[in-house]
Amino acid sequence: MSAKIIDGKKVAGITRDEVRQDVEDWLDAGNRPPFLQVLLVGNDPASNVYVGAKTRACKEVGIETDTHRLPDTVSAKELKKTIHRFNDDDSIDGILVQLPLPSHLSSHDVIEAIDHKKDVDGFHPMNVGRLTVGQPSFRSCTPAGIFELFKYYSIPTKGKHAVVVGASNIVGRPISIMLSKEDSEGKATTTICHKYTKDLTAHTISADILIVAAGQPNLVKGEMVKEGVVVVDVGINRVADETKEKGYTLVGDCHFESVQEKASWITPVPGGVGPMTVAMLMKNTLLAAKRSIYPE
Ligand code: GUN
Repeated sequence: MSAKIIDGKKVAGITRDEVRQDVEDWLDAGNRPPFLQVLLVGNDPASNVYVGAKTRACKEVGIETDTHRLPDTVSAKELKKTIHRFNDDDSIDGILVQLPLPSHLSSHDVIEAIDHKKDVDGFHPMNVGRLTVGQPSFRSCTPAGIFELFKYYSIPTKGKHAVVVGASNIVGRPISIMLSKEDSEGKATTTICHKYTKDLTAHTISADILIVAAGQPNLVKGEMVKEGVVVVDVGINRVADETKEKGYTLVGDCHFESVQEKASWITPVPGGVGPMTVAMLMKNTLLAAKRSIYPE
């Protein structure tokens, strides 16, 4: 078998087109444009790239945005004071603090300072808790984007064995919650693997759907998966490559060549999950502007 490609770039483009149309309708109804406030602490090169992509997407769909930069020496008190100011500003619909933060800052503490009604990343414990118990909530953008891809390609999850490799708060844990829910989207039997999992292959080999979000290049190889598996590779790793102008190549957490020989569907890196994360952020920001999740 040679896998069909799950084209995240294409589906993200379609999703952004839908959001652009929805924003236009929202403006035609006499509303002001949605506004996303981004907070960027320090000068991490990857974070600069991600924030640049988010800002460009906002412009493309008609969402207004501003990036507030703070030095990497900023105190937790000062950062939270800034967040509280944004919370209280009615002209701001969504707030996003780009992660990771410098090590002297607790991301839990900072995320909890954001008004959960403006938490378009879906990281606040109120949104994660509400997702878990089936209440309306902002859904974390990468997991929500993966479900959008399943929907677009009519890939069923109901009754399947879904295996998630990686238990991060940004991807692994929320996608495992969404996959495992019997009353809504996932309806899958779900296994979560992490760095303490003793025999990773024993789990990955039985997966009908395999989500890999471990941040480890080429962790999953062809011999670790079964024929026909659907593979979603969330990893974006920079691997040194002198033949490239930038000096590195982007690779996922799966060894693409060997895994795609056995899979029925696979996401490429880049061009798979990454663009969907940004597209879902646009969707969440519009939902925030419309007060759809938390009506007033
Ligand atoms: N860092 C890596 N992914 C994300 C994301 O989805 N949101 C934020 N705020 N930071 C990130």
